[in-house]
Amino acid sequence: MADAAHKIRTVVEQYTDPYLQQTLAEAAALADLKVSACEVAGTIELGIPVAGYVEQFRSALASHLARAGFPDCAVRCDLRATIVAHSVQRPLKPLPGVSNIVAVASGKGGVGKSTVAANLALAWAAGGARVGILDADIYGPSQPLMLGLEGQRPTAPDGKHLVPLEAHGLKAMSIGFLVDAGQAVVWRGPMVTQALTQLLGDTAWGELDYLVVDMPPGTGDIQLTLAQRVPVSGAVIVTTPQDLALADARKGLAMFEKVAVPVLGIVENMSLHVCSNCGHVEHIFGAGGGARMAAEYGVQLLGSLPLDGHIRAEADGGAPTVVSAPGTPRATAYVEMARHTAGALARRGRDRRGQFPQIVVEES
Ligand SMILES: Nc1ncnc2c1ncn2[C@@H]1O[C@H](COP(=O)(O)OP(=O)(O)O)[C@@H](O)[C@H]1O
Ligand SMILES: [Mg+2]
Repeated sequence: MADAAHKIRTVVEQYTDPYLQQTLAEAAALADLKVSACEVAGTIELGIPVAGYVEQFRSALASHLARAGFPDCAVRCDLRATIVAHSVQRPLKPLPGVSNIVAVASGKGGVGKSTVAANLALAWAAGGARVGILDADIYGPSQPLMLGLEGQRPTAPDGKHLVPLEAHGLKAMSIGFLVDAGQAVVWRGPMVTQALTQLLGDTAWGELDYLVVDMPPGTGDIQLTLAQRVPVSGAVIVTTPQDLALADARKGLAMFEKVAVPVLGIVENMSLHVCSNCGHVEHIFGAGGGARMAAEYGVQLLGSLPLDGHIRAEADGGAPTVVSAPGTPRATAYVEMARHTAGALARRGRDRRGQFPQIVVEES
């Protein structure tokens, strides 16, 4: 019996989670696992938001056990999320209280960056994480509209820190709450970057697992300066098939490389067309552009999202797809993308500053 339990534990250790893309042993997920012949119980720890994932996880693990010769093994384990802080570009320090800042960027505007940022944040929150969103797109702030917060203004009770607004369980701050777009477009680059870094630092975010930053589109000086000054754990690049053709997305990749920010992967938006009458799905620009680019640059394709009129209507209505149409294929596409993004981040190194004393070597 003990021997069977040992074998089962080994099989469980070798299960590869599709989002972490690591075995449970590699992910050090099994500290609280309890295995007997034949039951897998206890708690498995994953570095991604897990609410809504346990059924899928258990059934995939049960199939894995069945393939390994344990078809009758009952999988009853629970999942727990352990979302740790990942390192940021040197010499920047992480923002206090915020474990991971994730920048959502694009080579140009209009590719769906803000829609991806909002749904990414909402999917992580739905998974049980503590999440904020900073709309740093000074020329076209769209989070107030997409989160149903238009016309509202944050307060600063202590005269120093802004209290973020709340929508659908997210803490939200937008440059659009404070200045009108008309005013901001005439600002010079340094004013823009100063305003945005201040907005990031002066907001009372509290404790967050993830802070999603909706970056200004493009790869100019402002974007580069922000990528240098904001302590991010990773960047996500949103592309469309046309954007891929024009190589704009490649410029986005190159920009983050230049400032040593890890690119977690790319998200291909509007790659499939879903007919609003019959639901027929079609690759209008040809299939596989995002996958080819990902392979060429050695980055992960985090998700492919459909071009679907509902997505626009839901975002414009102040409740993006993940919250207004949960369980639909289009919402599931965002949830999958969010899990893959969390998994890509979880595989990266932890931020160990603060755990070790700083070693200073002095010459005498
Ligand atoms: N997958 C999609 N399907 C349909 N419409 C979309 C999709 N993604 C974004 N949109 C719509 O396209 C427009 C541009 O998207 P947005 O997220 O504002 O882009 P960006 O932030 O890159 O400028 C918005 O009206 C949005 O609702
Ligand atoms: Mg936008």
